[in-house]
Amino acid sequence: MVQKLIIDTDPGIDDAMAIHMAFADARIEVVGLTTIFGNVTTKQATRNALHLSQMAHYPVDVAHGADRPLTRDPHPPADFVHGPEGFGGLPAPDVETAPDPRDAARYLCETCAAAPGEIIICAVGPLTNLAAALALDPDITRTAARVVVMGGSAARHGNVSDCAEANIWNDPHAADAVFAADWDVTMVGLDVTEKTQCTPQDFTDLAKASPIIGGFLQQAADFYFDFHEAKTGTRSCFMHDPSAILAITDPALFGFQTTPISVVCEGEETGRTIAGPATGRRATHVAMTVDSQAARQRFLGLVRAADHMATDRMARDNC
Ligand code: BDR
Ligand code: CA
Repeated sequence: MVQKLIIDTDPGIDDAMAIHMAFADARIEVVGLTTIFGNVTTKQATRNALHLSQMAHYPVDVAHGADRPLTRDPHPPADFVHGPEGFGGLPAPDVETAPDPRDAARYLCETCAAAPGEIIICAVGPLTNLAAALALDPDITRTAARVVVMGGSAARHGNVSDCAEANIWNDPHAADAVFAADWDVTMVGLDVTEKTQCTPQDFTDLAKASPIIGGFLQQAADFYFDFHEAKTGTRSCFMHDPSAILAITDPALFGFQTTPISVVCEGEETGRTIAGPATGRRATHVAMTVDSQAARQRFLGLVRAADHMATDRMARDNC
């Protein structure tokens, strides 16, 4: 069975890794990309999403999302992690295509309603669009097959503070609304995403095997390696967003625990995800363990074939 997916994203270097991996995976049909601020502004995210689709000859709907969090003031984009335009040191891409006329929340609601139970929403950025979709049409809890979120941490651990992960911290109110809603949610957080890492040699190999898409990822990732090296002392990078896609395509690589999740929305621990008894809240599947070497190999194997898949798509379209 080919799994339909909408990826809600703030591309972003690891977002680009995840999206190109998904485009190259025949087990997935990416129906749409909905965009959100975080690594970049939403305007840049929409442009970057269109660029990724164009680069892979993968025609996909792109719907522009919320420009700011539900209630709190926005944090500045994470340009020190992802570069000024979102793809490391690469310049702003030119795009020839236009986004869908609907905003992301409407797009999510209408697309899931048109194919009830068929589409998984994989959110790899702040959760504002998903919270807006819940407010616009609460029935999306029934029409979306399920939701997989890259964000948070079940252990008290963070990457923007000692206890908050970036996607949750960027809009904690939205994240709490998503974990509170009555739908099937999987959280793929720092508990697993920091355990799977790629090396510069991995990207050199990808660039050789797949010069256009792998080459683009190699160039973009250089900046990401600089950031991680400065932070951890090791020139490797975490596979945050690709891990969320892998939790859908290759769930056997992960070990899950089921527990309700709530989000701290005020004070020093803002953005912290708390696993435990939250009365009346549906339990979330939380990824706690990962076979990191197998996850890394799956990512590399798929992206190695990315140019080949793109060429095939182009040839099919020209027939
Ligand atoms: C998450 O934050 C963003 O910087 C990444 O793209 C990822 O989605 C990791 O905390
Ligand atoms: Ca992201």
